[in-house]
Amino acid sequence: MGFRTDAIHAGQEPDPTTGAVTIPIYQTSTYVQEGIGKHKGFEYARTQNPTRMALEKNVAALERGVAGYAFASGMAATTALTHLLLKQGDHAICSDNVYGGTFRLFDKIVRHYGVEFTYVNTGSLADLEKAMRHNTRMVFIETPTNPIMSITDIRRVSDIAHKANCRVVVDNTFMTPYFQRPLELGADIVVHSTTKYLNGHSDSVGGVAVLKRQDDAERLQFIQNAAGAILSPFDSWLVLRGIKTLPIRMEAHNVNGMAVAKFLASRKEVRKVYYPGLPNHSGHDLAKKQMSGFGGMIAFDLGGLDHAKRFLERVRLCSLGESLGGVETLISHPATMTHASVPIEERNRLGITDGLVRISVGIEDVDDLIADLESAFAAL
Ligand SMILES: Cc1ncc(COP(=O)(O)O)c(C=O)c1O
Repeated sequence: MGFRTDAIHAGQEPDPTTGAVTIPIYQTSTYVQEGIGKHKGFEYARTQNPTRMALEKNVAALERGVAGYAFASGMAATTALTHLLLKQGDHAICSDNVYGGTFRLFDKIVRHYGVEFTYVNTGSLADLEKAMRHNTRMVFIETPTNPIMSITDIRRVSDIAHKANCRVVVDNTFMTPYFQRPLELGADIVVHSTTKYLNGHSDSVGGVAVLKRQDDAERLQFIQNAAGAILSPFDSWLVLRGIKTLPIRMEAHNVNGMAVAKFLASRKEVRKVYYPGLPNHSGHDLAKKQMSGFGGMIAFDLGGLDHAKRFLERVRLCSLGESLGGVETLISHPATMTHASVPIEERNRLGITDGLVRISVGIEDVDDLIADLESAFAAL
């Protein structure tokens, strides 16, 4: 089926009990069994829940994987993947410009279990090849990266990693399967913060991982149940509902994103705009090849903390807040908000300067958004 059809129907047969068109919220912790070992395939809700399973099947279909598993947050999904892929004595490579919380998880927790991490610019295949070791078991990439929007070639990274018997995980939160499908490009696993575009309405926190290999899928299902960081039935239902409109929302984010990026690029107060849809973006050609849209995430540099502060205090329609991917426009200051856990020297090296502002362009009328940004520029 086509993507829009799958978004609405995949994994969502009418409810067998009542015929309800919308999958119900199965708010139960357990299920009655007819006798010892005799049940309908549902024993305990950490292990199986029909609402969560509908979401998992849906996202697996959209990402073209064999199975998906939903977790209590994007970070819980990534944590489960470290349980799947890494053990003491292993080495992992991570894009040097990932979401700050991902870096924090690897550096402050997983590293203490005897796993070594190397952070490289995965946009450079030579740097990646140099970092590979005989015991490298995971290459974790985010593309485009958060917040600088640099692009990594998923196909070529996968070729390099697979020669070394190493899995490739792609955080596809920014693009969603509507604009980018990493498994079709050669990656092994996709992870999402469903908190963002998949749910799309800023009213749920969750995560999902989708796998290409059956053996990985079986092991992750075991880990999901054993470690237990499952997504609740209500959140599963919210994300399923959000995904039904994912294609039309992503189209709208894309159109507004391009218009806002062009507007920002035209302002003299802006030193640099990071948006892969602009022809002068370093990853523009690659982005055109592996993505079918550029999305709604933009970062721009106002040249210093003072300017960023004044600008952010002045916006009205754009809400100052962490997170992204909702229908409403959110604006943030990565250095003090989403990326505060990244050491300052590292932030500066990556371009996450004190003057950098990130905007998650929503689907409001774009003229209203531009008017709001224009009035904030007047404060500088
Ligand atoms: C790209 C990306 N990946 C993962 C996460 C973590 O997701 P969550 O906040 O749902 O744990 C975030 C959160 O901002 C993110 O932006």
